[in-house]
Amino acid sequence: MSIRDFVYSSFNKYFQYNPSFMAKAPGRVNLLGEYVDFNNGFVLPVAIDQATYIAFSLSSNEKDVSTIYSLDFNQKVIFSCNSITYRHDILGNELPQWALYPAGIFWALKKSGFTPLPINAVYASNVPNGAGLSSSASVEIAFAIAWAAVGNWNFNPMQNALIAQNAENHYVGVNCGIMDQFASACGIKDNILFLDCQNLEWKGLSIPKDISIVIANTNTHRSLTDSQYNIRRSECDLGVNLLSRVIPGIKTLRDVSIDTFETYKSLLPEVVQKRVKHVVEETERTRKALKSLHTNNIDEFGDLMKQCHHSLKDLFEVSTSQLDNMVEIAEKLPGYVGARLTGAGFGGCTVNLVHSEASEEFGNALADQYVKATGIVPSIYYTKASDGARILD
Ligand code: GLA
Repeated sequence: MSIRDFVYSSFNKYFQYNPSFMAKAPGRVNLLGEYVDFNNGFVLPVAIDQATYIAFSLSSNEKDVSTIYSLDFNQKVIFSCNSITYRHDILGNELPQWALYPAGIFWALKKSGFTPLPINAVYASNVPNGAGLSSSASVEIAFAIAWAAVGNWNFNPMQNALIAQNAENHYVGVNCGIMDQFASACGIKDNILFLDCQNLEWKGLSIPKDISIVIANTNTHRSLTDSQYNIRRSECDLGVNLLSRVIPGIKTLRDVSIDTFETYKSLLPEVVQKRVKHVVEETERTRKALKSLHTNNIDEFGDLMKQCHHSLKDLFEVSTSQLDNMVEIAEKLPGYVGARLTGAGFGGCTVNLVHSEASEEFGNALADQYVKATGIVPSIYYTKASDGARILD
């Protein structure tokens, strides 16, 4: 049974009637522009074909109570407008982590002046959880469009993304940028997305014809990602703060060129210096990557991905031995164009650009050699760039 049918029939099983709507919101993989979104740089993500699916209806009870079942966690929560303020269900129990995403969307909608209506919902996702493919953003965006559907609101996708980012930052408590929610909301089939995180202007760029995206999951548990993520973000903020004393007017690291960084880097503590160097160089890399897509120079794009991985390993320090291993193996395989860790790191996935005719051979060899080197069986996903979140017919 497809995940979509499973979610639909589970709704019927739990609530004893058919849902009025179904929504789908994809995960994402980022090709280039890592840890630059909250520094107002450029990102190049792709919405993938793994997604979160929700079946939902306006709740028919008179009370302001939403009932949400997670099929993946095999749990349900019941919350009200009032209880979510305290991150509680209606009985006063703390919401489990998975429920913070739907509850956070409800909360963020209220903060933005909307009155989300109570819903009954059942959902499941085939975006691997905690693997750096934005499973949480896909849940958030799916619920954002669900509440928009029952409220009959006509949000544009970027509005959804901003509401979901607000939920993640101020309800879930991860100080993320806009990239993941943007990609899930705004994805375009067969396209790489290019977003300028400073003015939120974005466009789609066709994926070159004979190029495939192969995602490889190291299947290592990501630990401390949220706390380390917030630390990296504050190190960047400290960099801006210290540099703004000598470079008046800078608001984010986007405003710092490589030359300016080289001139003033000695003013920064060593760790901050490394973080800032990654960000200013990565911003430059994404500029170059955009040009290489325009000129169809895919080898140059692949080389920029390689440089990005080294920078994330040595300067931003978010890689692991398994991620490094997987990238090193990929570099020697037939069909290889570029490979690097993707997303926040600390475990999770690598993203590989591969010549399409060799992609299966590439994926098989990568899996074989990784298991030999680490003893861990990886997961390989041959993904396609997909459309962003939508209500299903
Ligand atoms: C996570 C965050 C994003 C982004 C990436 C790193 O996925 O949610 O906003 O910062 O890490 O590029």
